[in-house]
Amino acid sequence: MNPSSGRSPVSRRGLLAGATGVGLGGAVSLSGVAAAPAAASPLLLPRPDRSGAPRVAGLHLQFGRDASREVVVSWHTTASVSDPRVVYGTAHGGFGRTEQASTSTYRDGASGTEVQVHHARLTGLSADTDYVYAAVHDGAAPELGTVRTAPRGRAAPFTFTSFGDQGTPTLGKRTAGGFVNDNLGSPAAGDTTAGVERIAPLFHLVNGDLCYANLATDRVRTWSDWFENNSRSARHRPWMPAAGNHENERGNGPIGYGAYQAYFDLPASGGDDELRGLWYAFTAGAVRVISLNNDDVAYQDGGDSYVHGYSGGSQQRWLERELAAADADPEIDWIVVCMHQVVISTADRFNGADLGIRETWVPLFDKYGVDLVVCGHEHHYERSHPIRGQQPTDTRTPIPVATDTGTVDTTRGTVHMVIGGGGTSAPSNGLFFDPAKARVITGVGAADPATGKRPPVYVIEDAPWSAFRDADHPYGFAAFEVDPGRRGGRTTIAVTYYAVSGPYGDLVPVDRFTLTRPRGARGGGHRP
Ligand SMILES: [Fe+2]
Ligand SMILES: [Fe+2]
Repeated sequence: MNPSSGRSPVSRRGLLAGATGVGLGGAVSLSGVAAAPAAASPLLLPRPDRSGAPRVAGLHLQFGRDASREVVVSWHTTASVSDPRVVYGTAHGGFGRTEQASTSTYRDGASGTEVQVHHARLTGLSADTDYVYAAVHDGAAPELGTVRTAPRGRAAPFTFTSFGDQGTPTLGKRTAGGFVNDNLGSPAAGDTTAGVERIAPLFHLVNGDLCYANLATDRVRTWSDWFENNSRSARHRPWMPAAGNHENERGNGPIGYGAYQAYFDLPASGGDDELRGLWYAFTAGAVRVISLNNDDVAYQDGGDSYVHGYSGGSQQRWLERELAAADADPEIDWIVVCMHQVVISTADRFNGADLGIRETWVPLFDKYGVDLVVCGHEHHYERSHPIRGQQPTDTRTPIPVATDTGTVDTTRGTVHMVIGGGGTSAPSNGLFFDPAKARVITGVGAADPATGKRPPVYVIEDAPWSAFRDADHPYGFAAFEVDPGRRGGRTTIAVTYYAVSGPYGDLVPVDRFTLTRPRGARGGGHRP
């Protein structure tokens, strides 16, 4: 076990093997056990990572394209490891299966640190089933987690949650006055994760601006802090992200998303490896979730580099194929889009809505009947009435097709939700226009020679599409209870926006409404 010690430590291999009948393999030690008898000699003090192997850090999950069958288990290190793997099985059957991990790397352009992210893809799983797993590499203590696969089709109800714009609750920079948070985080970035765990959803959608590493002194540490804060949730339920403008980091990959693309192993969407993971789709029950990267189409210059148009239209072509396929699929009821920058916002002096998204995505959302869009970027909560079509204005103002704020038939239009109160130190819930108006970015000016940034061009519009705004609470998340309904009836999603009121994830329901549509009504050609 440990060549420098005359005595073998208590082995977790033995403990797990005894409990399950299957060993983890490798030299894994369980630090902290049997410390009392050994305390007399410093040589016998139990120490973590006796072999010098790095720990299994930042354990988190992603669903594969079919969430009823595929899960990816991921963790990271800043040194090479030997034989990264996941052992897994069911709670009653034990760790009966082993899957080797493959390793993605990126070298942080600011620090030169290389990060290695180990991804083990578990396939052929059973639907709607709880699994237990342990992630390990040689010499490290295994980290344990659980995951539940999605139900297949309309077999069972489930709940998912969503927020964006979180940051971290940690302090990353020393100043003359002490340590400060240099990545737009606050203590609330810990509270919101605790809040999500109170709901214990099947999965959580992260609407971009994860940790604001691009603002931080130590970007690798900030990514690590984000996963440390969220692993308590993300090792039990996939956190499925969309990349926001703050995932665009100078010097990380050809477009700037190299860190994001390494940390997450997301469902494949075909095409160029440079664009891997920036847009993808997965299916949970009768819900098809489509995740987009809006920096490709937004006009705003919001990242470390201006990458507007970087995909050359390939994301848009993929989106249209994906939406057409989902809308023609009789097994799909709900189409949910997760993205970062917004079509609607009634905040003044913040980012505003972006005409680029209204021009590029909204006509496709209309054509193929997207039910729900969740986004972030604005650091507050609000939602729209169902919208379909656009006024012939300079801002392409969305047209509301109904005004009932309690029940919304999404066959008539798409509901947009801004859920950007994930925990930053810069909330925007105090900045609403009253009465509601929107500030829309319609383009950018020439780059400022001093900053290199392109200033936004704004046009103010009325906001007849505005349905609900929460001026009272800076932080929170939304929960979506999907009920597949009965054959010949309707399927519903009961939506609750919870404000997170402080430590322990205490929740205050602020907004409740129901999305409804006929069950089994997709299949093409039915659009009203
Ligand atoms: Fe943000
Ligand atoms: Fe943002």
